[in-house]
Amino acid sequence: MTIERLLATDDLPDGTVRALLDRAAELKQRPGAGDELAGRVLGLVFMNPSLRTRASFEVAMLRHGGHAITIEPGRGVWGFETRVGVTMDGDAAEHVFEAAGVLGRYVDALGVRAFAAGESWAEAREDRVIRQFAERAGVPLVNMESARRHPCQGLADALTLRERLGEPAGRRFVLAWAWHPKPLPTAVPVSASIAAARLGMEVVIARPPGWDLDPDDMAAIGSVAARAGGSVQVTDDLDEAVAGAHAVYAKSWGRLDLFGRPEEEAAARAGLRDWRITAERMERTAGGRGAFLHCLPVRRNVVVDDAVLDGPWSAVLDQAENRLHVQRAVLLAMLGGDGP
Ligand code: CP
Repeated sequence: MTIERLLATDDLPDGTVRALLDRAAELKQRPGAGDELAGRVLGLVFMNPSLRTRASFEVAMLRHGGHAITIEPGRGVWGFETRVGVTMDGDAAEHVFEAAGVLGRYVDALGVRAFAAGESWAEAREDRVIRQFAERAGVPLVNMESARRHPCQGLADALTLRERLGEPAGRRFVLAWAWHPKPLPTAVPVSASIAAARLGMEVVIARPPGWDLDPDDMAAIGSVAARAGGSVQVTDDLDEAVAGAHAVYAKSWGRLDLFGRPEEEAAARAGLRDWRITAERMERTAGGRGAFLHCLPVRRNVVVDDAVLDGPWSAVLDQAENRLHVQRAVLLAMLGGDGP
């Protein structure tokens, strides 16, 4: 199995996703070192903070004999300009066009994290930074979370659902919007829904009216679900959604029609603090034993109560661990260790 780039799992054939998940499950049983990536260097560019993504990619390279370098533009590295055709007389000293090209001459593959930014969703949804890197780097590229997708998180979510549920097809997956003090990106909720849809699950998106995901992303979830024999529904009744659910994935995201207007978005969100996963809600899941998922980091007692995170439902540490194993599988497929 070889992969040239990983921008979104919906770009990958079903068989490739299945093979990556199988390989990750196998690697999980083999935590010890190998030397498949000896002499290989992975560059990690973080335009935004990270704990899991950074640590798990660095460890994945180390575990297989390779090395990772981490670049944080604006922190000991020139700030990057990302706008096209702009006169660069502001703070940013280096255009992403040159930065991508230069890094591509040094490393064997690149990972890039660049969240949605700017004043309008119409602009942010174009995912300019990850596309600029993809066009200019000239080496294999992994999306480490962009405006639209977080494919490695989605793969880890799928592996966790397989581990927790055995055969996830036909079971109910609830994506539960949660209140949060800041408007967060939609890459994770979309990627998690695509992951569940690809497993043939009944995906239920519970969100307050107005917090709809991008229509193209909804179409992507629907198309994956239709192929896998699953379904997608949207509801504004969280309690009804979690009743009988096999997995509840909590995630906050910002209202896209108020993107770039955080004060208005916060005002619209006021009064929605009850959109939180409590032990009472988890007791109402299938047999009272539904799995609780979240990509982390998570705000305790804001998004989800202590009793859930510390209770039998929580799969969040498995999800985080699985980031490491799916990324080992991705890197081996990308850098030659798992060649055809
Ligand atoms: N889930 C996730 O991507 O975590 P980090 O933001 O810490 O990398």
